Amino acid sequence: MLASQFAEFGAREARGESPIYERLSLAVSRDDEVLDLVAALPPDRHQPNLLYGVVRFLGGPVEDPAAFHDYVVANWAAIEPVLRTRTVQTNEVGRCALLLPALAALPQPLALLEVGASAGLGLFPDRYAYRYGSHEVGQGQPLLECAATGLVPPSRVPEVVWRAGIDLNPLDVTDPADVAWLEALIWPEHTHRRERLRAAIAVAAADPPNLVRGDLVDELPALAAQAPAGATLVVFHTSVLYQVPEPRRRAFLALVRELPGHWVANEAPYTLDLTALPPPPDGALYNVLALDGVPLAWNRSHGQSMVWFG
Ligand SMILES: C[S@@+](CC[C@H](N)C(=O)[O-])C[C@H]1O[C@@H](n2cnc3c(N)ncnc32)[C@H](O)[C@@H]1O
Repeated sequence: MLASQFAEFGAREARGESPIYERLSLAVSRDDEVLDLVAALPPDRHQPNLLYGVVRFLGGPVEDPAAFHDYVVANWAAIEPVLRTRTVQTNEVGRCALLLPALAALPQPLALLEVGASAGLGLFPDRYAYRYGSHEVGQGQPLLECAATGLVPPSRVPEVVWRAGIDLNPLDVTDPADVAWLEALIWPEHTHRRERLRAAIAVAAADPPNLVRGDLVDELPALAAQAPAGATLVVFHTSVLYQVPEPRRRAFLALVRELPGHWVANEAPYTLDLTALPPPPDGALYNVLALDGVPLAWNRSHGQSMVWFG
């Protein structure tokens, strides 16, 4: 039910991360007029973060639930087409801090292939800097901070000799509208995420990644075959599979296991068919990091923390 989808987003995803979205989600979950407008759209358009992102993209208010209600009702004719065309493609560069321990442990150099790459910011883990507690790695910008428990931090960033991505709708870091959409997807209070997004966009814009438009199952074999010999192919993805319908997800999992090289997944646990997962640290939503199907750590969605398995 749509009301409970908004209530759950507020209680489990926004709580502790965004008081504005927590308050707004509770209000929308009780707002029949806004819920009826959203309910008339296909189910894949019902995500709270999509509605909030579109309102912010168009310059509307999200801080005050009453003002949000009035804006949505008065401007639905402008909101609806954007809701139908844009999708949640948050490109969270902070997730590179979650991937780094797995990537740095593989035989170097690496050929990186990201599925569900959005704008491709995850394809430059060698060009950013990282801080795990007091341990720093890497020289570049942005600096990605991650509170890690139980992790032996990597001593180096990976050496990347090839990078390519696949997305149903690749975003272009040199297109102002796509950049504005990426910024609108960042939660209102998260100034630090907006700043590091801009820094990562500058890195990617200086060397735009090769992003193939298409489905992760259809495009993966041919793109993987382009990886250079002599490099370790790593197929990876973060926060993608929850958007992929189950039959397609199963086809992808079967395909990726057959490819040469390694597979790094950072996803909602239900999407990966993993066994023997320890209980998550608390009632918040966690993703699981896995290397070649072996679970390694729980982590929070924006890369802010990880709990390495013992
Ligand atoms: C939430 S975003 C995450 C982007 C990026 N992986 C990150 O963590 O910053 C999910 C991305 O997966 C893409 N996606 C969803 N289903 C896909 C599919 N079947 N094939 C390729 N890409 C897909 C979406 O277009 C979107 O860009």
